Amino acid sequence: MAVYLDNNATTALDEKVLEAMLPYMGQVTGNPSSVHRFGRLQKDAIEQARESVAQLAGARAEQVIFTSGGTESNNLLLKGFSQHAVARTSTEQETSARIAISAIEHMSMLEPAQNLPIEVDLVPVDTNGCATLHAVEQVVTEQTSLMSVMSANNETGVIQNLSPLIAFAHERDCFFHTDASQAAGKIPLSFVESGVHAMTLSAHKLYGPAGIGALVIDKRLPISKLQFGGAQEKNLRAGTENVPAIVGFGKAAELALADLQENSLHVRALRDTLEKGLKRFNTVTIFAEKAERLPNTVQFGVDGFDGETLLMQLDKKAIAVSSGSACASGKAEPSHVLTAMQVPATLANSAVRVSLGKNNTMSDVEALLIALNDIIEINRHSAVMMAANV
Ligand SMILES: Cc1ncc(COP(=O)(O)O)c(C=O)c1O
Repeated sequence: MAVYLDNNATTALDEKVLEAMLPYMGQVTGNPSSVHRFGRLQKDAIEQARESVAQLAGARAEQVIFTSGGTESNNLLLKGFSQHAVARTSTEQETSARIAISAIEHMSMLEPAQNLPIEVDLVPVDTNGCATLHAVEQVVTEQTSLMSVMSANNETGVIQNLSPLIAFAHERDCFFHTDASQAAGKIPLSFVESGVHAMTLSAHKLYGPAGIGALVIDKRLPISKLQFGGAQEKNLRAGTENVPAIVGFGKAAELALADLQENSLHVRALRDTLEKGLKRFNTVTIFAEKAERLPNTVQFGVDGFDGETLLMQLDKKAIAVSSGSACASGKAEPSHVLTAMQVPATLANSAVRVSLGKNNTMSDVEALLIALNDIIEINRHSAVMMAANV
């Protein structure tokens, strides 16, 4: 049996989620915008899911805008905000507004940020992978009107200490967004209480279907819509809703909230055992070990290895992990997250990420440790043979 340890890339659809979705993929039809009973049934299902997603985020239902996933939510936020800022401040398409985002954001933040009509500043992180208040203070200017720092990083699992950053943003009348795609379902979220103005969520990171997510948004944060054609989703996201996916997201959110503590304790126990085992190899470095991290994630480097090679050797032994982030796989450069943490390039290039999920067991962890031991030993043996010129 193959062992899947790449749950930050995506998770297996929960059976209960599939069960909830199935009627909307077959028997139940109707366009949610139609006023007849078929349409109303679909609309009701959407609103019920909206309520569940809002509860997971600690938000109000009317603040949830369904999108096609984390990537679209991040794009909608950044492009929607900057287009609105440009339109508001000048007819000559010029504005003094600026955005500040952390250097360790997912590419679905970093790439759109490079293509905005307004300036973007990058907030550096310290060697633990944290965007500190000090770093934010150095970067944010009078013009900064939106800040964004992710809740937890997809590669290292580092949980950001957002409270002081949000308080700082409030003092300056600056909006604050957080990408909680990886945090949701793993640590508690509190949209309203925390004071954030926008939050990104993605269903397939929490045992829901891929291709559905949400931008949770406080209506005081103005954004322009990017897609035109209909008034769906508070007129911010035109297009007939993907009802089965929305229903699946709602069910996944409901389960994630109900099982948050249990799942978190389960994966933490596995992760702690894994880290204990990893520390027995004197060639392993655990990244951001001192920082507060998601309970399911460990990213580490193995001296003398290339992360991609290690990934492939583990794959040959039917164990699936990731080198850096899944989206960055295939790239030769070291991960931008580890680079921002000032991890030397050779060590960063050896990075492997293990992300545990609720379906993993202790024997999965044991299988990984045994496989790693074999790979490292074979490598050491061949290095000795080569040195001895045998
Ligand atoms: C932190 C973070 N944000 C956004 C995304 C993108 O989400 P989606 O795959 O739903 O577009 C990911 C996916 O890896 C992620 O880890």
